Amino acid sequence: MSDPGRDTLAYHQASKHHLERYAPGPGFLDWANQPDPFRVYEGCPRVLMPLAGDRLDARYSEVRAGRLPPPRPLDRQHIGALFELALGLAACKAYEGSRWALRCNPSSGNLHPTEGYLITPTLPGLPAGVYHYLSRDHLLEQRAELPQDAVFSPVLGLTSIVWREAWKYGLRAFRYCQLDTGHAIGAFSFAAAVLGWHTRVLPWPGETVLATWLGVDRPADRGDAEPELPECLLMLEAGETLDLHTAADLAETLTLARWAGQANRLSAEHRLWPGLEEVAQATALPAYLAEAASGPAPSQPLRPPMRDHPLATLIRQRRSAQAFDKVTTLPAEVFFDIAARLLPADHVPPWTAWAWAPRVHIVFFVHRVAGMEPGLYLLLRDAQALPEFKAALRPDWLWVKTGPAPLPLYCLLAHDLRDVAATLSCHQAIAADSCFAVAMLADFEGIDAAAWRYRLRHWEAGLIGQVLYLEAEAAGLRGTGIGCFFDDAVHRLLGLASDGRWQVVYHFTVGGALEDTRLTTLPPYPEAFRERV
Ligand SMILES: Cc1cc2nc3c(=O)[nH]c(=O)nc-3n(C[C@H](O)[C@H](O)[C@H](O)COP(=O)(O)O)c2cc1C
Repeated sequence: MSDPGRDTLAYHQASKHHLERYAPGPGFLDWANQPDPFRVYEGCPRVLMPLAGDRLDARYSEVRAGRLPPPRPLDRQHIGALFELALGLAACKAYEGSRWALRCNPSSGNLHPTEGYLITPTLPGLPAGVYHYLSRDHLLEQRAELPQDAVFSPVLGLTSIVWREAWKYGLRAFRYCQLDTGHAIGAFSFAAAVLGWHTRVLPWPGETVLATWLGVDRPADRGDAEPELPECLLMLEAGETLDLHTAADLAETLTLARWAGQANRLSAEHRLWPGLEEVAQATALPAYLAEAASGPAPSQPLRPPMRDHPLATLIRQRRSAQAFDKVTTLPAEVFFDIAARLLPADHVPPWTAWAWAPRVHIVFFVHRVAGMEPGLYLLLRDAQALPEFKAALRPDWLWVKTGPAPLPLYCLLAHDLRDVAATLSCHQAIAADSCFAVAMLADFEGIDAAAWRYRLRHWEAGLIGQVLYLEAEAAGLRGTGIGCFFDDAVHRLLGLASDGRWQVVYHFTVGGALEDTRLTTLPPYPEAFRERV
């Protein structure tokens, strides 16, 4: 009989990259079957969304201090801005006859497995319904009509099309989908903050019900198109509309949904990776996610960011660095502020989106920070984890408390680790040429008994990655998520067991970026979209 916890941990081991061999994957790119990056539901009514992102002026320095602007009205225009700034296109790049879109949210391999949904009662300009967001055309496809007089609060939904990542990455694809989901959770939280709204990951309704509510369990509508895996539901708190947030209200309304639309097929052929479907099933979310809630987390005082841009500007200009200049040096106080921003903080997005206690901690490979010794540092996102880490990590680490008093940051080793960081990140130079690189350690305790926690650990890591992307932009730097790393080589460096409680789930790097001047940058949408009112 299958055991979800055991199957999930077995998947994690099987999908590790090793110095001497990569996790099972295609090893080449099958261009003939490259998945369409856009899921379209043909035949449903469409609601065109206006472009408004560049007209919203909430400043990042304010949002980062937990001060949101007054809530904007909940209507079609502002829902459009929410999707634009969370999942919309941010730019088009062109090079030698090829052209590709980049989005406000990052994604492993720019493959974008994450699909976004809205379940809403009637709002000004938007009939009640279940909507799928088509970022290509910045519109909402109305997958289901709901009774126009239904009373409930709007929610956002996320799903993953695992095939998009499996096409390139094989077995490791499920991890990338989960990290991307975490980034999307962060992207929605930041986009909502621009509008004076909050989002929050809900601990309900569980996989089966969510599939029904989002209409991704309808075989007739899917036909031979690739399945969408339900991930999570986000509460949308937009000022005064907050009263009716019960699962029962939604459940009752959704029994009356009238569905339309047929999913497009993304690739002609698919290669199956044994273990992918199994881990998706093993980690299926139960009806209620019983996780320890986060305790009070007062935010730490931060200096204003080096560049005080409107948050919407930072979101739209965010890009992954492809290469770093090997010279930019970050002042230590800016580094400490970035580290402090990775700690949970009450009332500060995107931590308001995450109600659970922190289970992911951060190892820094500091390369170029003025006033800090290059070396290995550990940031405990829950200071109480110190004794456990002291017991688990190499006995000879220094454990010298570093930085401002309230920051649980410890120097483990003073040494130039540029080559080590690059090697551990699948030999990628971006982990060495930056100001600092990061390895995120997740707490795997309890995954054997409740395998869905495996998804939560990756969402939390993706959420941290989203903060790093924006903090990098605000410091005049650039970040890049790194999903390719040699798992057990990282564990060996730290002194951790390969099957132990702490497992590395994500890497990241931040530094002074080199622009690729060969690429042409084009606007994301036709100018005419601005005329949509
Ligand atoms: C989970 C995740 C893993 C990633 N892994 C890598 C990586 O290993 N190496 C790399 O160069 N970029 C990596 N990236 C960056 C993506 O390639 C990048 O987000 C994507 O190409 C879209 O570009 P953009 O971030 O500029 O929008 C990763 C991004 C994410 C979100």
